Amino acid sequence: MRHDEQIRVLEGLMNHLDNDTNVDVGHQLKNPVTAYTDPARAALEWEKLFQSYPQVLGLSADLPEPGSFFTNRDLGKPILCTRDKSGAFRAFLNVCTHRGTMLESEPRGRKNVFSCPFHAWSFSTSGDLVAVPKEDHFGTVDKACHGLTSLPAVEKYGLLWVSPDKDVPIDLDDLLGPELSDELAAWNMNEATWHNDTTYPHACNWKLAVDTYGETYHFSTLHRDTLFPRFYGNCQMYDTYKRNHRMTLCIRPIDKMRNEPHDKWHVLRGTVPVYYLFPNIQLIMNAGGVTLVRIYPDAKDPHNSRSEISFYTFPEERRLKVGPIFEENYSITTQMESFASIIQAEDYVAAAKGHIGATSGALLHVTFGRNEPALHHYHSTFNEALGLPPLEKVGG
Ligand code: FES
Ligand SMILES: [Fe+2]
Repeated sequence: MRHDEQIRVLEGLMNHLDNDTNVDVGHQLKNPVTAYTDPARAALEWEKLFQSYPQVLGLSADLPEPGSFFTNRDLGKPILCTRDKSGAFRAFLNVCTHRGTMLESEPRGRKNVFSCPFHAWSFSTSGDLVAVPKEDHFGTVDKACHGLTSLPAVEKYGLLWVSPDKDVPIDLDDLLGPELSDELAAWNMNEATWHNDTTYPHACNWKLAVDTYGETYHFSTLHRDTLFPRFYGNCQMYDTYKRNHRMTLCIRPIDKMRNEPHDKWHVLRGTVPVYYLFPNIQLIMNAGGVTLVRIYPDAKDPHNSRSEISFYTFPEERRLKVGPIFEENYSITTQMESFASIIQAEDYVAAAKGHIGATSGALLHVTFGRNEPALHHYHSTFNEALGLPPLEKVGG
């Protein structure tokens, strides 16, 4: 984040604290509960948001060296991501071109050749068919025509994007716009190292899980004993970048920065910036690392979803540059994992209860407040991307 922007958001948060204000959209929005429960809506989302829209599947750190790979089935089809011999990021359908067997079953690892478990046709990290056993018995195979099916794949700003549809190209400039592109670049996420992954299933529509990241209005109640002692609730800065956004959450050590000169200020000492990348990604930044949250529907089922959460750490010297923030004696990974387990134990439990409410018939719609701009923004962009009418505004 540019330093002048860091100062703007830090001063904005201090101003909110001093005046007991928060971001204010100026009106409320109503979202029909059917957005969370209707199977037809879920099928439309699966098609438009998860089958034909570029997806972040990881960070560069997931493929640390040539030959590194990971597999992914979050989008309903088997995907194999590799770093090829030249170091380039590649993505393929993880399907052998002989008889269609799924080629690689391990979640991640390092291989120079992927050998099919059925008859051992073998493929390089670039997807080329490199060996067919007993070709003199099988018959000649035109290897040039039997490589793995490539998917569009882009590595930029330390993030890995894949298009689940081989015919839908990835235009990052168009998806992100120049401002967010510059800001993501400035975080140097390519310096991160993968630490571990965890999966949280949740009995709710996937957007109810996303909604728990959409405001800090709930911090003083839902997180009273967990996050609230470290965060100021109902206090944030909010900025949009096309269909994406940045929520800047306010942490209590911001108070210690007030009397320091601006050139000593670092945004991570007083805030937790959280980037949302349309449609399902949260990137939670801190001095020592980044947490990537990918939230997926259960195919076309509106009632179940899950979060795939990955933790990455930055080199120690990055943290030193930011300066002291955390009083706790926790390691950075403990802090990230504890944050994630609070999300699981509190936010996702609330989201599942919200889903019970949504299917109960008690309400026709839920209401997004003036102080919940993220909910306004991404539910509006969902409707726009799905070709649905805009949400209805209600009074101030
Ligand atoms: S199906 Fe893969 S080698 Fe036969
Ligand atoms: Fe929360």
